Amino acid sequence: MAVGCSHGDQVDPEARRSVLTFRDRWKPSVTFHLGDFLDLAAFRTGAVNDPNAADRAASVSDDLSAGIDFLHELRPQHILFGNHEARLYKLAASPNALAAHAATLTIQAIEDAAKKLKARLYPYNIRSYAELGGAKFLHGSMYNVQAIRDHCESFGSDIVMAHLHRVGSERARTIKGSTGYCVGMLARFDMEYASTRRATLAWSQGFAYGHYCDTSLTVNLCERKSGQPWLLPI
Ligand SMILES: [Fe+2]
Repeated sequence: MAVGCSHGDQVDPEARRSVLTFRDRWKPSVTFHLGDFLDLAAFRTGAVNDPNAADRAASVSDDLSAGIDFLHELRPQHILFGNHEARLYKLAASPNALAAHAATLTIQAIEDAAKKLKARLYPYNIRSYAELGGAKFLHGSMYNVQAIRDHCESFGSDIVMAHLHRVGSERARTIKGSTGYCVGMLARFDMEYASTRRATLAWSQGFAYGHYCDTSLTVNLCERKSGQPWLLPI
């Protein structure tokens, strides 16, 4: 089972409840969180540098406790960092001592949670991925209309990703042939940065589940669009 983009305290309570219910029913042997398990709005470069940025007031402790609580309930064995967690590593090296200290403490809290869960953490970069059944699991770095296909072709295998906040699948244009899947998001549809961008109208919530063997896997996607009820496959 794979989920992503729950975004800490920006998680949609109904989406959260639904995936945890599905987890209880499906009893996956392997679970992934594909990144952006925290929102970390206050760690955005613009928020740190601009004294008037609204994000400066976003609570770090609410976000951190919501994000870590969700990880404890989801119990993933694989936790990937997304672009939102990547902000922490950038700021941990900042000459701003307060920001660097806050980022370092937040990284420590994530590492402690992963240790308790016996989960493996994966850094955020363009080459980073986890592997299962011959497929690669990643957060995602490109953001465009063909981003699922582009990631799939870059990695040269089936992929399961998050990052785009829309559930979908696309085929790669390669001789080998591969399929890319995006799990969508678990965050609220009305997050602050979704209030003006048109692309956010195509957002959908969801998750992926399936079966695997050593060399192959099947992926099913569950999607919930804005305004719809959650209909779980089992
Ligand atoms: Fe995200």
